[in-house]
Amino acid sequence: MTAEHDTASPAEQVERLRKALRDHNYRYYVLDDPSIPDAEYDRLFAQLQRLEQEHPELRTEDSPTQRVGAAPSSAFAPVRHRLPMQSLNNCFDRDELEDFDRRVRAGLGIGQARYVAEPKLDGLAVSLLYRAGRFEQGATRGDGQTGEDITANLRTIRAIPLRLLGEAIPPLLEVRGEVYMPHAGFRRMNEEAAARGEKTFVNPRNAAAGSLRQLDSRITARRPLAFYAYAVGYSEGYRLPRTHLEVLDDLRRWGLPVSNLVEAVSGVDGCLRYYEAMQARRVKLPFDIDGVVYKLDDLTGRDELGSVARAPRWAIAHKFPAEEAQTVLERVDFQVGRTGVLTPTARLRTVFVGGAHVSNATLHNMDEIARKDIHVGDTVIVRRAGDVIPEVKGVVLSERPADARPVVMPAVCPVCGSDVRRDPEGVAYRCVGRLVCKAQLKQALQHFVSRKAADIDGVGEMLIDELVERDRLRTPADLYTLEVEDVAVLYKSAEIAPAKLIDAIRQRRTLALPRLIYALGIPEIGETTAKDLARHLGSFARLRVARTEVLQLIEGIGESAAKEIRWFFEDEHNRRAVDALLARIEIADEHEVSADLAARATLAQRLAQLGIRGLGPVKAETLARGCGSVAALYQRIEGDLLAIGLDAKTADAVRTHFADAGRRAEFAALETQLTEFGVLGAETVVQDTSAGSLSGLVFVLTGTLPLPRDEVAAQIEAAGGRVSGSVSSKTDYVVAGEAAGSKLAKAEKLGVAVIDFDALGRLLHG
Ligand code: IVH
Repeated sequence: MTAEHDTASPAEQVERLRKALRDHNYRYYVLDDPSIPDAEYDRLFAQLQRLEQEHPELRTEDSPTQRVGAAPSSAFAPVRHRLPMQSLNNCFDRDELEDFDRRVRAGLGIGQARYVAEPKLDGLAVSLLYRAGRFEQGATRGDGQTGEDITANLRTIRAIPLRLLGEAIPPLLEVRGEVYMPHAGFRRMNEEAAARGEKTFVNPRNAAAGSLRQLDSRITARRPLAFYAYAVGYSEGYRLPRTHLEVLDDLRRWGLPVSNLVEAVSGVDGCLRYYEAMQARRVKLPFDIDGVVYKLDDLTGRDELGSVARAPRWAIAHKFPAEEAQTVLERVDFQVGRTGVLTPTARLRTVFVGGAHVSNATLHNMDEIARKDIHVGDTVIVRRAGDVIPEVKGVVLSERPADARPVVMPAVCPVCGSDVRRDPEGVAYRCVGRLVCKAQLKQALQHFVSRKAADIDGVGEMLIDELVERDRLRTPADLYTLEVEDVAVLYKSAEIAPAKLIDAIRQRRTLALPRLIYALGIPEIGETTAKDLARHLGSFARLRVARTEVLQLIEGIGESAAKEIRWFFEDEHNRRAVDALLARIEIADEHEVSADLAARATLAQRLAQLGIRGLGPVKAETLARGCGSVAALYQRIEGDLLAIGLDAKTADAVRTHFADAGRRAEFAALETQLTEFGVLGAETVVQDTSAGSLSGLVFVLTGTLPLPRDEVAAQIEAAGGRVSGSVSSKTDYVVAGEAAGSKLAKAEKLGVAVIDFDALGRLLHG
């Protein structure tokens, strides 16, 4: 439907567009089944906006365009609810739920009650008044009797229909439901606010509340709010059905979004099954829920039961355990991990949160502590969601006592007294004690015996602890010297008989190379990386001495992993421990260096690794082809780098780099290592391009080439050729890339040779 060619009157067009937009809104928000792409919706919307601009007399309050917000008002007017907006009683466990259910059944004299279970959305309750199907007034809950008029703000929420759809719409209908903010919108909004240096909201509920309380509804209009309807309040001319489920169906039919997580359940068991299911789904839901609500489905029964105080007797909220709580940070301890990293751990006054008693929480690292401004003695907010490790989310600054102390990283390891150093890169602090540090040793041993490493069954945490404390285990090698007597005295829990255990250790004397590499527990070297290292390097001896540049030639090994490997093998403790281990075990599955590594170890690759300005993969290739070997490269540097096709700037950068004797030595050492590893066979033969392989030839470039034109031109010129802009009978070659056009046609007409980029490469490099 395009307005321009429409013969219908503007009024008809406007009506048609509004109806279409309403239908699409309904499909999107109520059925969750949009039939047109967002862009198409936007197009129809823009069309309607234009028509309304051209014909102001056609504007109406309930047009889908009227959601952009209105100018600020000075205050929200009070709205007296025609029927009080009640709240819900809570229950937290089966016992409390059974009490509720018993009261319901006793009150009605029935054996089993049917409930409707719904998610308890964590947002704000609102009331929407529709008169003759048009949205007239919206209000907050307030104190339950009187709320605030937030009509202008609610109009901006696209999930709230401005006009109801379908048949038999009651003349007066008050819809009740929850305004909330989905996670995705909340995250985006907070990111944008942070980018502008504005304050962010702590959670979606607060963000939704803040957005609804805006006096300027244009601000609300930009907030990603959503809405679900869950009840009818006051109504006139609505023939109330018999059940709540039917009410929800009516609401859906009239175009109001109702959660599709709503379900009918029977008795306490049905309720609890729903509760468990929702709790499991909770993390995956796109919005926050803080529990579920059970409501008696039978509306007549509801009337019979009535209400107490401000809550109905026919419904109850079953809350999830709170995920956040406040408590006091009493102390900060530092735990030493397997790789020596010291992790600050909060010791808290015990608090019940996320369904468990929590007295420890991770503080991650010192930067986190500084960022959150955490002091010992502070009142802190602790979060435990699902099974995740509890963490300290933040500080309640207003509660900070006068004697609160900053958190300090100890200078020496709390376990072994070795120095603590900050990682050269990154935020971690590490104990340098390695295996001298019992904390690290115990974890290193546990890692060594684990299933994916040496796979020694039966050596558990307790046994390791005991043997380390008795100094019977100082390195993993000592595992292989254990005797039956060593474990017999300790083995109380006797999972496996001592003799069997020692036997198991002996049987694991042979380690496949990938397992051995993984078993060492080098930081950043997980099972997959260990396998890659084994596959490409082929031997443990090569891994021990491999330079970082060689390691980085392996796919998946970045700079930091390569450095970790180097540091590991350069450390004196580790070297001794590894020597001791190699004396006790056999390595299986060693082999030659992989062909893949050899292919990646070309001179060009090595040159490109150096980080010389301007020397990217392409120019590195030119340089490598021109020189052929490191020795030839050093020679050529003294002479003419331009002759082999390098531009002057890059040539200078290459010269400057290699002017340093240390760098030359390193680069040569790398070549030596690769030769020793059997990686470097016949190097590329040095080519003499000084005469210019393309000397006197004229080229024309056309179409899209794999490299920028000026780079291709530079290579041709460096080889003695010339590049021209137009095809003539003097042209020797037209180099045609993709989508070549008129120049290609002309070349064909004149009978000039047409070649592709690869053929040019062959001409250039022979
Ligand atoms: S029914 C009389 N259903 O929970 C019944 N409330 O603690 C009134 N809420 O103020 C509410 N999801 O803001 C109902 N599916 C749901 C709900 C829900 C969230 C909120 C609502 C209400 C509060 C009661």
